[in-house]
Amino acid sequence: MIETKTSQFAIDVLNGLKETPKRLPSKYFYDKKGDKLFQDIMKLDEYYLTRTEYSIFESNKQGILAAFSNGVNEFNLIEFGAGDGYKTKVLLRHFQEEGAHFTYMPIDISGNVLRILEEALKDEMPDLHVQPKQNDYFKALKDLQDSPNRNVVLFLGSNIGNFTGDQANKFLKELNDSLNPGDLLFIGFDLKKNPDVILAAYNDSKGVTKEFNMNLLDRINHELDGHFDRSKFLHKPIYNPMTGTTSSFLVSTEKQSVSVVDETFHFEAWEAIHMEISQKYDQPMIEQLAADSGFEIVGGFTDDKKYFLNSVWRKG
Ligand SMILES: C[S@@+](CC[C@H](N)C(=O)[O-])C[C@H]1O[C@@H](n2cnc3c(N)ncnc32)[C@H](O)[C@@H]1O
Repeated sequence: MIETKTSQFAIDVLNGLKETPKRLPSKYFYDKKGDKLFQDIMKLDEYYLTRTEYSIFESNKQGILAAFSNGVNEFNLIEFGAGDGYKTKVLLRHFQEEGAHFTYMPIDISGNVLRILEEALKDEMPDLHVQPKQNDYFKALKDLQDSPNRNVVLFLGSNIGNFTGDQANKFLKELNDSLNPGDLLFIGFDLKKNPDVILAAYNDSKGVTKEFNMNLLDRINHELDGHFDRSKFLHKPIYNPMTGTTSSFLVSTEKQSVSVVDETFHFEAWEAIHMEISQKYDQPMIEQLAADSGFEIVGGFTDDKKYFLNSVWRKG
């Protein structure tokens, strides 16, 4: 399907390729094939994030429910960027077993992955109240209605890590503005650790992460009449232990021109397209982010290796 030049996907891709340095927004990784590739990434040995957060939920599900339901009878569980809900299901199942009253509201930009999630939940937890919504995080913020029930917002995995510092601040401030006093944010942070462990997660030996990045070039070719030749690009992730930022690039191996929609973009040999960041955090960075966005940190759950932290924030 060729989208028009005025679709948001086309606008964002064309604008990104006009920037210096060139960039492509990673939120567009998630078409049907991208969703499947991300599910494959979550199963990789090198991708410690998913199994670590899963184990945090398994070990702390009682404490997590106590934090969410503290002082209220009913809450809304709103998940931004829910994906296939693989880890969230640990919590959903436990909350149901404990008779908690809540409605699960997964929000994701990918309609495909939301359908997969909805079907799976119907099958696995037929009594669960589910209200899925396909939307961009930033747009979904405006829809958080005034609800008589406590809102508990889940922002799991390394979703916050895909934002630059400025974007994270802006998003969390807007989220804080959209919430009511006493509402909670349950937010995942991938913590700074051995740089080799981090880099391997974004440069796996099977090349699945490479394929995940390259798939965006294919998507542009299919949907925006693009003419990228993926054999003329290298996938190159790097990790900077000073800043805690992992950045992924696709690097042009030769001087070339590529047309997308009806525009032509020139690449010098070894010019890079910035694809995605994945920010790693330490405690002072997390405290600063909470303070800057008006949240109070009221709890947290981590794993034995201190690889990952699920922090509980409250709007005062
Ligand atoms: C890295 S995956 C993480 C999925 C899940 N939260 C987890 O921890 O495994 C990111 C998910 O967020 C969604 N996503 C990415 N950018 C988004 C945006 N701007 N608005 C809404 N969803 C977005 C993607 O479609 C994908 O399902």
